[in-house]
Amino acid sequence: MNVHDSEQIAALLKGSGYEMTDDFRKADLVIINTCSIREKAAQKVYSQLGRFRELKRRKPGLIIGMGGCLAQQWGSKIFERASFLDLVFGTHNIFQLPDLIRTIEMTGAQVEQTRFRESIKSLGIVAPPQNGAVSAYVTIMQGCNNFCSFCVVPYLRGPEVSRPLRDIIDEVKALADHGIREVTLLGQNVNSYGKTMGEGADFATLLKEVGKIEGIERIRFTTSHPKDLSFDLMKCYTEVDKLCEHIHLPVQSGSDSILKRMNRGYTKAEYLDKVESLREICPHISITSDMIVGFPGETEKDFQETIDLMEKVKFDSLFSFKYSEREGTAAVKFDDRIDECIKRERLQMLQSLQDKHTLERNRALKGCIEDVLVEGVSKKLPDEWTGRTRSNKIVNFKGGGELIRKTVPVLITAAYLHSVRGELHQRRGDRCL
Ligand code: 5AD
Ligand code: SF4
Repeated sequence: MNVHDSEQIAALLKGSGYEMTDDFRKADLVIINTCSIREKAAQKVYSQLGRFRELKRRKPGLIIGMGGCLAQQWGSKIFERASFLDLVFGTHNIFQLPDLIRTIEMTGAQVEQTRFRESIKSLGIVAPPQNGAVSAYVTIMQGCNNFCSFCVVPYLRGPEVSRPLRDIIDEVKALADHGIREVTLLGQNVNSYGKTMGEGADFATLLKEVGKIEGIERIRFTTSHPKDLSFDLMKCYTEVDKLCEHIHLPVQSGSDSILKRMNRGYTKAEYLDKVESLREICPHISITSDMIVGFPGETEKDFQETIDLMEKVKFDSLFSFKYSEREGTAAVKFDDRIDECIKRERLQMLQSLQDKHTLERNRALKGCIEDVLVEGVSKKLPDEWTGRTRSNKIVNFKGGGELIRKTVPVLITAAYLHSVRGELHQRRGDRCL
């Protein structure tokens, strides 16, 4: 979400005549896009503020703005902590950036804009592909109404609002015209797309409509809330050819009592049932997830339930986090906090188990012929191409000719933790079963 926000900011500023620089010391305008989902992300911002203060001291004409969740949370109070900032803008105010910057240029005043909008009708920003990108994000909704007890998102990104279907289709068409081949539809809970609009359009309908757009070869989406994952949506994996066989389905814990305290709205058994249905409908689907360890009250038995769920699902990959207390959330009230050492131990155990599962899942691809959408030249080996399978695995392979943006068959020959390796294959259509 934040990466996409940064892309949108860059595109908007380009439209206002600014050029991107790789060296922030050369910049006339610096925008710091912040995240405060976990304490670590927020700490990172605070520790970097000193660097920007120094930059401003050396170059007084420089304009420095801060956006994102932390800016939303702090509002104008951030000026007390960082008086050198010229601008604070919230999660709903990105589209106002050119005007806000113009105001600063004209008046030299400090500006704050963190008001929520009620609709995202006017979102209409199309970030043209940067440096020949093959894939792009498309926001389909903003905010969240779920109020999981650990999460700041509903407070900092506001209530859930869906974007009109027509606007999304227009943006995807424009991206296809710019050479984009793959789109990832973005929202905090894409399964509930359309609920706030009362137009009868749901997420399955949206997927089918995007599936008709010429030039777009692959569709992905993130994030999906397990409680709202409907059978209709699961069926899209067979009905929409362009929908890639991957789902990010954050589970957060395998313990029913912790899931209840987290206000997740499903049990471990219900989650496992959905995974089983997904695999019945789409046998080769890759499933990734998010997990939190050390949530208040998490006993050793609760943690073992999480391990058991992981053993049963065998995720393709997992983002795992130590619980971090966030101001304003319901979980702050739980006083049975878990010791940091225990959190660290549990995280390590969980991550080493996940590494085993990731390798196992990646090794299962050996000998398969996978369709790979080529993104560019490999970062480590310039004589190799890099791309992704439909299941979202990174593939590095040797091959002649100009392959960027093309989808080519690759025989997978080796598997690692973060990628697989292969060889360009001549025959098309054979699949691994
Ligand atoms: N502590 C730890 N992890 C969190 N996440 C969200 N809030 C917290 C928190 N307070 C994790 C969840 C979510 C992912 C984006 O970040 O796993 O799915
Ligand atoms: Fe946060 Fe829960 Fe909403 Fe995800 S669904 S953004 S975890 S409140």
